[in-house]
Amino acid sequence: MAKPKVLVTWPYTFPEADKLLQTETEAFYHSEERPMTRQELMEAVTDKEGLLCMLFDRIDGEVLEAGPHLKVVSNLGVGLDNIDIEAATQRGVVITHTPGTLTEATADLAWALLMATARLIPQAHQFTREGRFIGLRYHIFLGKDLAGKTLGIYGMGRIGTAVARRALGFNMKIIYHNRRTNPEGERETGARYVSFQELLKESDFLVIVAPLTPETQGRFGMEEFRRMKKDAILINIGRGPIVKEKELVEALKEGLIWGAGLDVYEREPQVEKGLLELDRVVLTPHIGSATVETRSTMALVAAENLVRVLIGEKPHHSPNWDKVRG
Ligand code: GLV
Repeated sequence: MAKPKVLVTWPYTFPEADKLLQTETEAFYHSEERPMTRQELMEAVTDKEGLLCMLFDRIDGEVLEAGPHLKVVSNLGVGLDNIDIEAATQRGVVITHTPGTLTEATADLAWALLMATARLIPQAHQFTREGRFIGLRYHIFLGKDLAGKTLGIYGMGRIGTAVARRALGFNMKIIYHNRRTNPEGERETGARYVSFQELLKESDFLVIVAPLTPETQGRFGMEEFRRMKKDAILINIGRGPIVKEKELVEALKEGLIWGAGLDVYEREPQVEKGLLELDRVVLTPHIGSATVETRSTMALVAAENLVRVLIGEKPHHSPNWDKVRG
């Protein structure tokens, strides 16, 4: 029997995932290290039953329409804001993703960014590299203490809870705001649920871990920064458009908050120019899940999700399996 044709939108180099795809499917890999253009994507899906896509591929009704044989779209990542799930459900296409695989790595990155921002690590590193370290000085690179401070988490799901768990080791108070309370997360970390306004007012470090939804989009702007502590540090590892970047630049310039560490951006891969020029800002290029172990597990789970749907089995994680196949 002919194997199902699938499209992988990036030239993969994850051996276990590759092996599975090559054994179970006829896999076509996009050959260049750049996102496929919309035209390329629409042409390439015409005869495919499966699509393994990246977070930067926008999969909407038009793309699904261009692939009438598609049975499954497997997203390499946890966030699903790049996919129109309703349009897929209407067309009987199963969507899958990889929650659970990247929880710890992403929580680690939140802390790496938080500490790098609080202690001005990249700036100090650059200074040292430039040969400017001519002896201990008591007044340079003065950062912020963590102990005894309040960590606020916006979005207390799997990753938010893992971020909170790490705060216990730093002797911090933990508060969070979420669509609904997370009793399990509270039990595990001692975090306390607060209103959004309290979160802004009380947090010394405010970490955004939420997904992008109509409700979270643009949630942090000038009005919110005004309500935060002047000493506060904002960290965003969720999705860029949750923060109005231009307003964040203004807030930092006006001293409404102390600093910011960002891994995601409003218009990726563009970064708001003002952010590049500020002293107390640390920027990373969407590397939340970027560890050798986590990325290969994600790739394998994404490949397994794809293959499972193609052979009629339930995938590991899907927001619409029950609706499509139920
Ligand atoms: C990363 O941003 C993901 O959603 O997996």
